[in-house]
Amino acid sequence: MPRPDDHDAINGPSTLPLHCLEFDPPGPPRPVVLPDGTRAWQVTRYDDVRKVLTDPRFGRARLRITDAAPLAGQAGLVASTDLLFNQDGEDHLRLRRTLRGAFTPRAVARWQPWIASIVEQRLDALADGGPPADLVAGFTLPLPVEVISRLMGLGAAARERLSHWSRYAFSDGSHSEEDTEPVLAEFAGFGAALLAERRKDPGDDLTSMLVRAADDEGGIPEGQLVDLVCGLVVGGHDSTMTMLSNCLLYLLGERAECWPRIGADEEAAGAVAERLLHLVPLGDDRGTARHAAADTEVGGVVIPRRAVVLADCGAANRDPDVFPPRQLDDLFSPLEAPTLAFGAGPHYCLGAWLARLELRMSLHRLAARFPGLRLACPADEVEWRRGSTSRSPQRIAVTW
Ligand code: HEM
Repeated sequence: MPRPDDHDAINGPSTLPLHCLEFDPPGPPRPVVLPDGTRAWQVTRYDDVRKVLTDPRFGRARLRITDAAPLAGQAGLVASTDLLFNQDGEDHLRLRRTLRGAFTPRAVARWQPWIASIVEQRLDALADGGPPADLVAGFTLPLPVEVISRLMGLGAAARERLSHWSRYAFSDGSHSEEDTEPVLAEFAGFGAALLAERRKDPGDDLTSMLVRAADDEGGIPEGQLVDLVCGLVVGGHDSTMTMLSNCLLYLLGERAECWPRIGADEEAAGAVAERLLHLVPLGDDRGTARHAAADTEVGGVVIPRRAVVLADCGAANRDPDVFPPRQLDDLFSPLEAPTLAFGAGPHYCLGAWLARLELRMSLHRLAARFPGLRLACPADEVEWRRGSTSRSPQRIAVTW
């Protein structure tokens, strides 16, 4: 049983490609100290991580409003108390209900034809402009931006500003407060204006649906709706872009033998997407944070009241008691248990089915159209774009 002053240090960001990150073998919950000095309890076993993410004694809201230690790298929109992700209990449910049914597998499957046509347009543009090409500028960034823009009903001007807003909304902490504030105010102004427009003149987009549901629900503070719209707009493209970029870096750099089958068989591409989602982390952080409302036993260890708890989904996805070792050997085999790549419990990723669809279709159609696609620059020379919880290549130089 560790003593509370025995804190293991957690390393800061790496420059290794994400698929090369090493994880310590999972073990009992342990006290750790983050690079900024924050003390926390890290949970790494699959069952323990599921317990932390599903037990209401571990919440998000109290991280912001109690005496819990401040969290590393948590600036920008992710630090907003109005954000869906930072609500607990009934407040969280009420806000999440406004999007009930919007992102179910059945709803998402109905979007397949227009998402496919966006993928094809992007592939046409790549073919017209290259080789060579930058896969980030030409594919992995504009594709999810166009998908979420169409879903939320964004105009061309907002699309142009999206990457800029994302950089500050998901800041890695390197932007000063002075620089961040006006950008976030502009972003919130955009969210508020979009909601107002759709109230006046509803369409068939998700923003209009959200406004209707919020009016039916009643009593939801406008600031929460604004942050929900902004959170969906940036969350809806940033994570997908990051995952797609990091997966392509691995597939093209190290697993070229899988490319022909990914191009020939969309179902096989879906299996690869699921396995890579499971194993390629979005960034360097070692756990999503929660706050313990009470002394709570997890995996045989009592986590004390008021502790910050880090549920390390990356380590849990490698737990040898649940997943066999050498998980990357066969990328086409189905997962042995549900992945924690999208979290678990009340904050389970709202966009999980959309992200899966975008990844599957992107990998399949890219490999079908460009069977000879290969990296034009080694993976270890990539420059990295860092966000609050994500890291992805600035550029992926390719040729074919
Ligand atoms: C590969 C892409 C994606 C990954 C890996 C991912 C991952 C995650 C994870 C792990 C969480 C839970 C965090 C936690 O519990 O600490 C989450 C929450 C969330 N995700 Fe995603 N996500 C992706 C794409 C998307 C997309 C496309 C959307 C929107 C369309 C989205 C919207 C959200 C929202 C709104 C939440 C917060 C839910 C809540 O607090 O109730 N995500 N995501």
